[in-house]
Amino acid sequence: MEIFKIDGLTKTFGSGHMEVRALQEINLSVSRGELTALLGPSGSGKTTLLLCISLILEPSEGRIVFDGQTIFQKNGWTGVDIRRVRREKIGFVFQFHNLIPFLTARQNVLLPLNLTGINGKKAANRVRELLDCMEISHRGDSLPALLSGGEQQRVAIARALANNPRLVLADEPTASLDTSRGAKVMEILRKVARENQTAVIVVTHDERMVEGFDHLYRLKDGCLQPD
Ligand SMILES: Nc1ncnc2c1ncn2[C@@H]1O[C@H](COP(=O)(O)OP(=O)(O)OP(=O)(O)O)[C@@H](O)[C@H]1O
Ligand SMILES: [Mg+2]
Repeated sequence: MEIFKIDGLTKTFGSGHMEVRALQEINLSVSRGELTALLGPSGSGKTTLLLCISLILEPSEGRIVFDGQTIFQKNGWTGVDIRRVRREKIGFVFQFHNLIPFLTARQNVLLPLNLTGINGKKAANRVRELLDCMEISHRGDSLPALLSGGEQQRVAIARALANNPRLVLADEPTASLDTSRGAKVMEILRKVARENQTAVIVVTHDERMVEGFDHLYRLKDGCLQPD
């Protein structure tokens, strides 16, 4: 079942002689339970595409349909509450985890639940389940700065999964990890896709990390090509 679709998505930054065409007429569709990899050299537009898909960055042109709703059309957002869609249906794992530094690991995972109105025992149970699943429970009361890179990344994944999103986006989730920890993170994302019927899109430089993915695409100068 298709969860997400973009048509003719274009993104330009700046104007005049400073104009950068970061994305050129991208078409992409992903279904629930599917693993999609985006590969491409530095500056090819990978992060820009992920930010557009996550509704954080406004495209210049094109169309975005999410879970059957048109979110963006040619001339702008359609009026659908994009913050809400993002909160409830999309999980984002940033390249440098972006955990909130003054909250503990546990509180970082709790936050998205609280923001969608899930509190008390129900929220606490969910947090426990997520920390267990990421094998990070024993570090739940630590501040992010006291965790290793791999531990921080696992907390970031737990946070992205908190609301059981339909779509999980991960920007170089293994870049700051060694090979075996990186492989573990990818294994977790694979499991999430298969078991929760979540669509997962991973941006990476490292092709070895995306073995067994359903779809591979390459970005080159803002254009998307199937592998
Ligand atoms: N806010 C911005 N303003 C102007 N240009 C930008 C902006 N963000 C990105 N760009 C440009 O758009 C192009 C694509 O950038 P993007 O960050 O998407 O690349 P990337 O594929 O993620 O690269 P990397 O692998 O290094 O992370 C680059 O030429 C970049 O300089
Ligand atoms: Mg990038």
